[in-house]
Amino acid sequence: MNYTYQDYLKMYEQIAKRTDFKPLIGAVLGSGLGNVVNKVDIKAIIPYSEIEGMPCSTNKAHKGQFVFGYFKGVPMVLMQGRIHMYEGYTPQEVTLPIRLMKMMGIRSIILTNAAGALDPSYRPGDCMLIDDHISSFVPSPLIGNNIDEFGDRFPCMSPLYGQEQNNYLYNRARERGIPVQRGVYVQFSGPQYETKAEIHLAQIVGANAVGMSTVIEAIVAKQMGLYVMGFSLISNMAAGIAGSMPSDEEVLKQANASEKNVYELFALEVEMEAERLKKNG
Ligand code: HPA
Repeated sequence: MNYTYQDYLKMYEQIAKRTDFKPLIGAVLGSGLGNVVNKVDIKAIIPYSEIEGMPCSTNKAHKGQFVFGYFKGVPMVLMQGRIHMYEGYTPQEVTLPIRLMKMMGIRSIILTNAAGALDPSYRPGDCMLIDDHISSFVPSPLIGNNIDEFGDRFPCMSPLYGQEQNNYLYNRARERGIPVQRGVYVQFSGPQYETKAEIHLAQIVGANAVGMSTVIEAIVAKQMGLYVMGFSLISNMAAGIAGSMPSDEEVLKQANASEKNVYELFALEVEMEAERLKKNG
């Protein structure tokens, strides 16, 4: 699907008709991380399936709805469940909700996911602040007609993820005993997990963690001028590292086991970003 700006507007108007809530920060909650919404003072919920024209999440670990409300007093919209390329959606379809959140008025976005560790020094349960990404193994969501209302045809992607935020977060997380790393995330399309040879390749090109999401979302967010932050919960060692054979069960089990740390890191990030936005006006 090659969306026009009118298509986006039509979908945005359906949302605006249902809630006048004005979020400041957006977030995408990754595999097994959806329970963050239990801590939100919820003002509205809109399932993706109720927005005509919007692709829906088919993954059982992803609920598929926009949740609007206050988290730590900050007005937010959270995607409880994301849409993936491996469900059969194009990069434009996968990133459509990111564009809709920008139209809702967000200034910053926090992208979270579960990922496999490529760095043998990482452990399942670590959180990796994303310092940079590699998009070269998936098609760009910006291929096709450029929609000038959203940004430049050839947007600059460096620096992409909030380095200052990551410096601050890294230190705060360490003080609190949250096992935290910083590194480069690479997106593969999935849904199959990688072969040992693919993991070797990803290590050689300089990635520290691998997953099936996030990068194309970060690209459209950056193109639209959003401040982008993100972290991965390391749910498993990638295939072949320390004999690992990743599975969906292992990913979800670790996501559940790490819920407390992930929640704390997320909360720190939201508070820090809200403070930064307040200072910068
Ligand atoms: N590979 C790809 N995606 C993932 C992994 C992995 O090992 N773990 C969680 N998401």
